Amino acid sequence: MCGIFAYLNYQVPRTRKEVFDTLVKGLQRLEYRGYDSAGIAVDSPGKTTNKDANSNICLIKKKGKVKALDEALYNGDSMDLQEELETHFGIAHTRWATHGEPSPINSHPHRSDKNNEFVVIHNGIITNYKELKKYLNSKGYKFESETDTEVIPKLIKYVYDNREKEHLSFSTLVERVIQQLEGAFALVFKSSHFPGEAVATRRGSPLLIGVRSQFELPSEHIPIQYNSARIQEGVQERNSRNKTDSVVEQQEVVGGKAVEYYFASDASAIIEHTNKVIYLEDDDIAAVIKGNLSLHRMNRQTGDSPSRAIQTLQMELQQIMKGNFEAFMQKEIFEQPESVVNTMRGRISFDGSKVILGGLKDHLKEIKRCRRLIMIGCGTSFHAAVATRQILEELTELPVMVELASDFLDRYTPVFRDDVCFFISQSGETADTLMALRYCKDRGALTVGITNTVGSSISRETDCGVHINAGPEIGVASTKAYTSQFVAIIMFGLMMSEDRISMQKRREEIIIGLKDLPDMIKKVLELDGKIKGIAQELYQQKSLLVMGRGFNYATCLEGALKIKEITYMHSEGILAGELKHGPLALIDKDMPVIMVIMRDACYTKCQNALQQVTARQGRPILICSEDDPETIKYAYQTIGLPHTVDCLQGVLSVIPLQLMSFHLAVLRGFDVDCPRNLAKSVTVE
Ligand code: G6P
Repeated sequence: MCGIFAYLNYQVPRTRKEVFDTLVKGLQRLEYRGYDSAGIAVDSPGKTTNKDANSNICLIKKKGKVKALDEALYNGDSMDLQEELETHFGIAHTRWATHGEPSPINSHPHRSDKNNEFVVIHNGIITNYKELKKYLNSKGYKFESETDTEVIPKLIKYVYDNREKEHLSFSTLVERVIQQLEGAFALVFKSSHFPGEAVATRRGSPLLIGVRSQFELPSEHIPIQYNSARIQEGVQERNSRNKTDSVVEQQEVVGGKAVEYYFASDASAIIEHTNKVIYLEDDDIAAVIKGNLSLHRMNRQTGDSPSRAIQTLQMELQQIMKGNFEAFMQKEIFEQPESVVNTMRGRISFDGSKVILGGLKDHLKEIKRCRRLIMIGCGTSFHAAVATRQILEELTELPVMVELASDFLDRYTPVFRDDVCFFISQSGETADTLMALRYCKDRGALTVGITNTVGSSISRETDCGVHINAGPEIGVASTKAYTSQFVAIIMFGLMMSEDRISMQKRREEIIIGLKDLPDMIKKVLELDGKIKGIAQELYQQKSLLVMGRGFNYATCLEGALKIKEITYMHSEGILAGELKHGPLALIDKDMPVIMVIMRDACYTKCQNALQQVTARQGRPILICSEDDPETIKYAYQTIGLPHTVDCLQGVLSVIPLQLMSFHLAVLRGFDVDCPRNLAKSVTVE
């Protein structure tokens, strides 16, 4: 979790205020990744006004959301906001606490010493920080925070202090530091010893660099320089690959003239400045010196590309703006008629009943030969797997397992070469899912990514996959990604069953259902006013049960998760088949219950559950077919939905619960997009 953003302007004069605004705006775009504290490091204003005369870099850090930091930046009296900075490098961070409570001292950037010689921002977790801290303590380095991150600036200073007569470039120092780090990181470094220079690197956490220049970029690919650094004496060597001793000199590759660079955890923070970006790979080290960007890494690894492409982002700024909506989550709920179309675009021929997923077609034969399918994810992405499991079993006639990534790993689940494992993740960066992917890869299974984030770790590390193309999702509670994951997995099932004669009728009805889906979603969204009315009745309740079964069980899990996440009410998704085995004890006239009852194979069983609830004075709110008087007559409140094919009904039935959770959260006075204690991208295990 955490969002990192940095901005370097080289020979592009910017006032200090413009620099602050760029850094703060960048953080605001990344705030969904963490929002308990924020901070920046910039060059100090002229020394006469600087409180700490030894320091060329000043740090400003605040507990709370980015807004608090923004206010603090303009309250300081020592800053001349109009001062023009011809070349400047500033780094910024928004935090989701893992080690140490939210507080200014635990916020990033972290520093090497009181003079801020080296400062760093970090996304990820350093798992061997205790050993490093102990070592650095023994060498006299004093720590001030409780974070794992602080070992990084201390370590770079240690390497710098012990360089003896050797001339070490900034990127070589960083290279020596990351050789000692275990865990996951995306890092950006700034140093008073290397003014105007930037170094960034990653392993396991995302990082990309946007480039803006009024001049033509010299190349579409940036070559990688493969180098290896000397290991610092006294710090244990961890990697036998790093033994050669030649340090390759910097080469000018991109930039050099007036140029600006933006470093960020994701593209949403960059798109308003430039659409030209470079995605860093694990262990890449990017350095900017005198406006030139160059890339280095340790010795070449098999399969590694010798260059990084400068890619053009397809994202539009408008996609990450709230527009007229109160919250990103609300906007994203209302985008679903378009986002599901974008998932299907160019992939389904509605006339010929054909589905082609370009990212899977070359692997289809292998997938068809497999022994079982395993779908793995966390949170909402796991629910998308639950929602589609039954139809996948039906269309592929294969056993399908659905797994929560953390539990899958805890169990050391047996995985074989003839398994096909799907990794479902909106962000493509969720640590548990990524670990499960590596686990399955090591065991020789074919790995398939279902992600929403092009260039993400999961999309890069899987053998093949599907981008769901739902567009950027910013609200922490996932909505449109769920319905797009749902549709993408169903399309996979359709592709797998294309040559099965016995399946043709079923396939056709699903394909017609997919074609009509956007219009049906629009109809469901028209119920917003009614749902808001029901939320007004419910918002002071403590608890809310959501029941259903079969194709709509996942809706109950997902609806309850939405309610928990953003309203902080207790909510449980209950399989109606389990009602008699415990949950029925909770039912009385005061317990709010939502029941999902659609006209499918489970209809009669759901009716039975409804009877059992009403017989205990329960007053159910029913999500059911709009033309089902038999069910509606037992309802305390009804949310009537258009009818679609059974396996797609879950796309429609989840939307009232997305809307309900949104209205409940607003009525309860909570920040819908930034629920307490949560973050969108969970990059820690
Ligand atoms: C976090 C988010 C959830 C999301 C889950 C999995 O918990 O708050 O909304 O469903 O991570 O994220 P992923 O990006 O892998 O889908």
